[in-house]
Amino acid sequence: MTTLQELLEAIENRTAHVGIIGLGYVGLPLVLLFEEQGFKVTGFDVDSSKVEKLSRGESYIRHIGVERIAEAFKRRADATVDFNRLTECDAIVICVPTPLGTHREPDLKYIRVTTETIARHLRKRQLIVLESTTYPGTTREELLPRLEASGLKCGTDFFLAFSPEREDPGNESFNTRNIPKVVGGIDADSLKAAETLYGSIIERVVPVASTEVAESAKLLENIFRSVNIALVNELKVVFDRMGIDVWQVIEAAKTKPFGFMPFYPGPGLGGHCIPLDPFYLTWKAAEYGTWARFIELAGEINTSMPRYVIDRTTDAINRSGKSIVGATVLVLGLSYKADIDDDRESPSFELIELLQERGAKVSYCDPFIPVAKRGRKHDLGMTSAPCTAEEFAKYDAVLIATQHSAFKDRALYKNAKLVIDTRNIVPSDAAAVVVRA
Ligand SMILES: NC(=O)c1ccc[n+]([C@@H]2O[C@H](COP(=O)([O-])OP(=O)(O)OC[C@H]3O[C@@H](n4cnc5c(N)ncnc54)[C@H](O)[C@@H]3O)[C@@H](O)[C@H]2O)c1
Repeated sequence: MTTLQELLEAIENRTAHVGIIGLGYVGLPLVLLFEEQGFKVTGFDVDSSKVEKLSRGESYIRHIGVERIAEAFKRRADATVDFNRLTECDAIVICVPTPLGTHREPDLKYIRVTTETIARHLRKRQLIVLESTTYPGTTREELLPRLEASGLKCGTDFFLAFSPEREDPGNESFNTRNIPKVVGGIDADSLKAAETLYGSIIERVVPVASTEVAESAKLLENIFRSVNIALVNELKVVFDRMGIDVWQVIEAAKTKPFGFMPFYPGPGLGGHCIPLDPFYLTWKAAEYGTWARFIELAGEINTSMPRYVIDRTTDAINRSGKSIVGATVLVLGLSYKADIDDDRESPSFELIELLQERGAKVSYCDPFIPVAKRGRKHDLGMTSAPCTAEEFAKYDAVLIATQHSAFKDRALYKNAKLVIDTRNIVPSDAAAVVVRA
């Protein structure tokens, strides 16, 4: 039996042991899914507090239920900070962060360190899959040589593939199991191994010609969103000058049953993916003497939105007869997206900081984030104000940044003096003054 056949058989009869490196928003759901589908799974992370929580059956990601974790870790899952245990695994899936550096350059240090760790423990008949979002060429240029430096050969001794993650936290219709999974291999046998692995837990696997196609497909998906969001953000500014409500325009346009997909304006991009990933491609494009102008332009427009919203807020406060200096403002929502507790790259931080720069006294309210966490870039040192009409009435302005369901109750705004709504969730007559921005 060849090495590939042995691996395929182990996957098919569920004796393969799966290792997941990086137990965050992407890695943790994968641990659970592999375990629930009958695999022995070990999660690896450098953050010992996550490992300890999982070992106690606790969750640290709100939308991932504690019961699922407790059950999985009672049965076949475990978590560790001991990377020597990678040798136990037949398949290793890498889900570590891929942030941007200070000059918007890809920061591959997590991928590189992880690959070097795997290389030290690499053995025959292992499949390595990268899931972290990155520029085309990463798997072949960064992972392959580091892994082959072990002396083992890809395609005969071990297998290497890329498969992008498409998680949509908080989405009730789509989860890891029913979102189709694109897979590209370094060679035909690597593709076969990765297809078999994911085919055993995911409803539909989409094999593609190479790791580069798989890497690029993920970027295209995120660039598509970034560019379209930038387009409506720009149109919001244009229509606003013309006295036209962009939200009414979108509602009308989206009645077209073909050839149109609605995107909505907002106070700026947030999350781990859309504000960051497109720049992985612009960086790589330069190596080939080419430009990705749409991505740069979309980035420019989207990053200017927090300032636009604060200009409009300042204006509205001035019109109410107050100065922005000393005005009290309540920002609604710290997470970047509705009804989740993920605050990574959230534009709310910039909104708060810009208001403070202008002299306003700022508080925030977010039922999902009772205490503002210290992040890499921000440290607000604040706790959430209560989500009540009495509280909202205390401020000179309430600025809606996130469309949490809890903020859609119009009664909350009945005594509010001024509401700046960047999400179109409050009717115009819900407060004394409502401004869309
Ligand atoms: N969050 C999403 O919705 C989403 C969607 C699609 C793709 N992605 C991509 O998936 C990747 C992971 O994103 P995430 O949201 O899960 O990030 P995350 O920050 O939630 O989790 C990453 C985990 O990796 C751990 N880690 C860091 N360095 C490590 C190392 N050297 N060894 C082991 N563990 C290490 C961290 O402690 C953390 O627990 C990124 O490339 C991201 O772009 C994320």
